[in-house]
Amino acid sequence: MAQTSPSTPLDAASSAEDAAGQENFDRLIAEDSRIEPRDWMPADYRKSLTRQISQHAHSEIIGMQPEANWITRAPSLKRKAILMAKVQDEAGHGLYLYSAAETLGTGRDELNDQLLTGRAKYSSIFNYPARTWADMGAIGWLVDGAAICNQVPLCRASYGPYGRAMVRICKEESFHQRQGWEILYSLSHGTAEQKQMAQEAVNRFYGPALQMFGPPDADSPNSQKSMAWKVKRFSNDELRQRFVDMIVPQAEALGLTLPDPDLKWNEERGHYDYGELDWDEFMSVLKGGGPMNVQRMARRQQAHEEGAWVREAAAAYARRQAEENLLAADTELIGA
Ligand SMILES: [Fe+2]
Ligand SMILES: [Fe+2]
Repeated sequence: MAQTSPSTPLDAASSAEDAAGQENFDRLIAEDSRIEPRDWMPADYRKSLTRQISQHAHSEIIGMQPEANWITRAPSLKRKAILMAKVQDEAGHGLYLYSAAETLGTGRDELNDQLLTGRAKYSSIFNYPARTWADMGAIGWLVDGAAICNQVPLCRASYGPYGRAMVRICKEESFHQRQGWEILYSLSHGTAEQKQMAQEAVNRFYGPALQMFGPPDADSPNSQKSMAWKVKRFSNDELRQRFVDMIVPQAEALGLTLPDPDLKWNEERGHYDYGELDWDEFMSVLKGGGPMNVQRMARRQQAHEEGAWVREAAAAYARRQAEENLLAADTELIGA
């Protein structure tokens, strides 16, 4: 039954508090100020942000897998060091983002459990395999490139901890994109076979990278709310267009082609037109039918189990530190 008026003094107090909280929240959003963890916020803002930030964190963590597979096969010591640094950055991104999500009240264990039990999603791009060394180039250039387009506006997200985490992440993503572009540049200016390998990698990752922005605006009902809350600043299609406009000249500089016969400059719009994307494939990969979904989850579960001793050791150390601090405080009190 819907409650129309507060029935107890406690309800009255909390609804008055909610009304004041909502008013303050609306004002902060209208002013383009930030919402911080201790501020009152609507339940669905909290829920939606927890989902978005934790899915973002999961994507960073799962996203380590396709590239980690190539660390031992990198063609030189320099490439190995760069790739290792990049994969470690992604782990760091996952950690900042889990911390940001935790400020909304859901613990790390619960968030992790959501990923391990398949209740939470991660970006479907990571369910594609990295078949050749050139894929390290295509992933850096296209996947990290798409991530940058998506994430730069998130630096201004209304939720403070999320926006602040994105600032550092974007700086690192920019290095990731450049290292990918540089791998492809070397290959496309190498032997005919190397150039072919680079082209094939771009052919495989182009479509899935464009889909990283999510479904077309007409099929993305949650976006509107996110934009009203000033979490998202541009629609999926706007961001996708920005990305296409960015990569066309970069592909030319690489001497590679983008696998889209409909890609052409539209004078009237001042943007590149691009062809229809395969959304059936996107939905199928999202629902678990991609080439690597099962393997990615199995690897994550295995890594989680293998890391149990680290978590236990960290918890034991924290307990001992707390006991020692308590003892030190007691001694000080006695001494005083
Ligand atoms: Fe990242
Ligand atoms: Fe990255």
